[in-house]
Amino acid sequence: MKKALITGITGQDGSYLAEFLLNKGYEVYGMVRRASVDRFDRIQHIRDKLHIFHGDLLDQFSLVRTIEKSEPDELYNLGAQSFVPTSWEQPVLTAEFTGVGVTRILEAVRQVNPKIKFYQASSSEMFGKVVEIPQKETTPFYPRSPYGVAKVYAHYITVNYRESFGIYTCSGILFNHESPRRGHEFVTRKITDAVARIVTGKSKSLTLGNLEAERDWGFAGDYVEAMWMMLQQPEPDDYVIGTGEAHTVKEVVEIAFERAGLDWQKYLLVDKHFFRPSEVDQLVGDYSKAKAKLGWEPKVKFRELIEMMVDADIALYKSGA
Ligand code: NAP
Ligand code: GDD
Repeated sequence: MKKALITGITGQDGSYLAEFLLNKGYEVYGMVRRASVDRFDRIQHIRDKLHIFHGDLLDQFSLVRTIEKSEPDELYNLGAQSFVPTSWEQPVLTAEFTGVGVTRILEAVRQVNPKIKFYQASSSEMFGKVVEIPQKETTPFYPRSPYGVAKVYAHYITVNYRESFGIYTCSGILFNHESPRRGHEFVTRKITDAVARIVTGKSKSLTLGNLEAERDWGFAGDYVEAMWMMLQQPEPDDYVIGTGEAHTVKEVVEIAFERAGLDWQKYLLVDKHFFRPSEVDQLVGDYSKAKAKLGWEPKVKFRELIEMMVDADIALYKSGA
């Protein structure tokens, strides 16, 4: 039985990846930060099947101990401060978690067992102010937030440990991916949650920022499969994972309200407070390398994704949550 260790197992992707690996017959270990209350909502349904250790990307010794105790064949580093606006509020902490944290965990791999296969959760935010459309593995980076800058560092340190020490490291450059488990602060979930609140009489409006920003939105459940596929190849490499389609925030709004039979124009407000100091205007991924080499393709389409999220949020509120 193969063993996998996931940092960030309590997050959106961590929960889908844990499910995916359990279904593949893996023994799954997760590293979580100690908190005064457990944050296991997303993994509650599989909690009994997981082995959980406490550790933190800020604490080198905890990383070494977690790897020593779990003895993984594969390590998926999904832990990060992942919300872009917070990275302007807490730029140094973001650099520590999202950037230098990757060096800490790579050092732990190097020290404990350099044969571990390592996956780094890189991001399309690295392309930022894009220099070509669509973006692929060779597109130069131009990050536009402290989060994007930290992810560029993390990407290059991942590549460097492959080139310097021969460790099997992959950087998955993933475009935005969403699900009913998405954090409420991200725009898709903020919208689908608001629609559900309005439908169930708990709210009267939704306030957003830039409606014209374009993203390449896919389904998190599809994207965790790509992470696993990367680590099954004969040689480590870096891959762009996206859908190849760009849509505006406004389109998300239109589809979400339409799904609930509501006219969005009656409920939507725009507030400058939600605009960013520097915006990423358009992201769209060219995933042809992943398709050719991994045989990966997205399954869930954009409209289906947003409708799935609206339905799930309405069901949640109707169940009394
Ligand atoms: P998420 O829901 O925000 O989950 C982040 C996870 O990281 C949580 O489990 C969190 O734990 C953990 N974490 C935060 N700081 C940590 C620390 N210091 N030590 C250990 N764990 C820590 O993010 P996600 O959407 O699942 O994304 C997973 C990864 O992919 C992240 O690295 C993100 O930056 C990257 N990514 C995401 C997307 C996307 O669209 N979702 C696209 C590209 C890349 P707590 O529960 O304790 O907070
Ligand atoms: N969050 C948020 N809230 N975003 C808004 C709002 C709002 O009220 N109004 C408009 N937006 C716009 C943002 O300006 C941005 O252009 C777009 O919606 C998407 O924002 P988010 O959903 O917060 O995601 P993100 O693109 O900044 O970052 C996500 O994707 C990255 C991959 O490209 C995160 O998951 C990152 O961790 C990930 O790396």
